[in-house]
Amino acid sequence: MKKILVTGGTGYIGSHTVVELQRKGYEVLIVDNLSNSRLDVLDNIETISGIRPAFEQLDLADGKLTAEFFQRNPSLDGVIHFAAFKAVGQSVADPLMYYRNNLYSLVNVLQGMKDNNIQNLVFSSSCTVYGQPEQLPVNEKAPIQKAWSPYGNTKQMSEEIIEFTVKSCDVKAIALRYFNPIGAHESALIGELPLGTPNNLMPFVTQTAIGIRECLSVFGGDYDTPDGTAVRDYIHVVDIAQAHVVAVERMLGDKGKSNFEIFNLGTGNGLSVLEVINSFEKTSGQKLNYKIVDRRSGDVEKVWADTTFANQELGWKALKGLDEMTLSAWKWELRLAEIKK
Ligand code: UD1
Repeated sequence: MKKILVTGGTGYIGSHTVVELQRKGYEVLIVDNLSNSRLDVLDNIETISGIRPAFEQLDLADGKLTAEFFQRNPSLDGVIHFAAFKAVGQSVADPLMYYRNNLYSLVNVLQGMKDNNIQNLVFSSSCTVYGQPEQLPVNEKAPIQKAWSPYGNTKQMSEEIIEFTVKSCDVKAIALRYFNPIGAHESALIGELPLGTPNNLMPFVTQTAIGIRECLSVFGGDYDTPDGTAVRDYIHVVDIAQAHVVAVERMLGDKGKSNFEIFNLGTGNGLSVLEVINSFEKTSGQKLNYKIVDRRSGDVEKVWADTTFANQELGWKALKGLDEMTLSAWKWELRLAEIKK
C-alpha cells in the first residue's frame, strides 16, 4: 500500500483529496495545525470511506518539529502539500504572516523530503499567478504577472522555490493551479468551513440563503462581460481532489515529462457571478437576497482555464457541472445548520 502525506488534510480541498486517495487504495497520513479546520473532519472522512486517516497536529512552519516529523515518517511515497493560508484580504493586512506561514512550511516540507529521499510532491497553486491574463482561456505558458496580493505572491514564489529545488536533488513535483473550487462532497459530510465572514462567493451565497448573512454583495456590475459581473472558472472540489490522485499516480508511475510540471485545474468554462446565483436559486429552490455594489479592489475581470494540457497530458477532466456544484454547496450548508441545532 502506498503511503501519502497530506498536509492541510483536514482543510477544504485537503479533506476531499484524502477521501479520493483512500478510495483508490492509498494509505493517508494527515498533518494539519488546525488553524483553519476542525478535528472532527477526521470522523467525517472515516464515515465516508470507512477508514480513519492517521493524523498529527503540527505546524509545518516550525523547521525543527517538521524535521523531526519526517525522521519519524521516512517511508512516505509522496506528499500533497495543501497547508497554507488563503485569504487574499488578510494577506494584504498581514503580509509577513503569509510569507512566514506559506513559504516556511513549503521550505520545511521540501527539506524533509530531500533529507529522507521522498521523491514526489504535489503542490497547491492557484490561477491567481496569472493575474488578469491577456489571452483567454489562459494556458500554463502564459506569463506570470506581478502579484496582486501577498497571498498570490506566496504561490508564485512557492512555484519558483520548487522549480529550483527539483533541479538540485531527486525531488520531483507537480504544481496544480486551481481556478475557483466550490461545492462539497455528495455525502454532505465534508465541505468548506469558513471561519468568520466568508471572503469567497459560494460560502457567502449559501450563508445568505440560510439566514446567517443578510444580503450578498455582488462586487461589480459594470465589467466587460456578457452580464456585467465578473467571470471565473468554477470547478467542483471533488474534480479538483481527483486531479491530485491522478497527479500522484503520474509521479509514482514515473510518467512525468519533466521533474517539475504545472497543470491548470479548471473546467474551461467562464461563468459570471449572476450565473452562479441563478444556478443556486434553481437547485436550492431558495430566493437569494443580493445587490450589485462597487467592484472589490484586487479582483480581476475575467479568467478561465485552457484545460487542454491537463486533459491530454495528465489525463484528467473536470466532470461535474455548475448545478451539481451549487446544489452540493447548499446541501453542505443545510447539514452545517443541522449540526448547530
Ligand atoms: C481568488 C483568487 C484565487 C484564490 C482565492 C482565495 C483570482 C482570480 N482568484 O479567487 O486564486 O485561490 O481568491 O480566496 O485571483 N464575489 C462577490 N461577492 C462576494 C464574494 C465574491 O460578488 O461576497 C465575486 C468576486 O468579486 C469574484 C467572484 O465572486 O468575481 C469569485 O470570488 P471569490 O470566491 O472570492 O474568488 P476569487 O476572488 O476569484
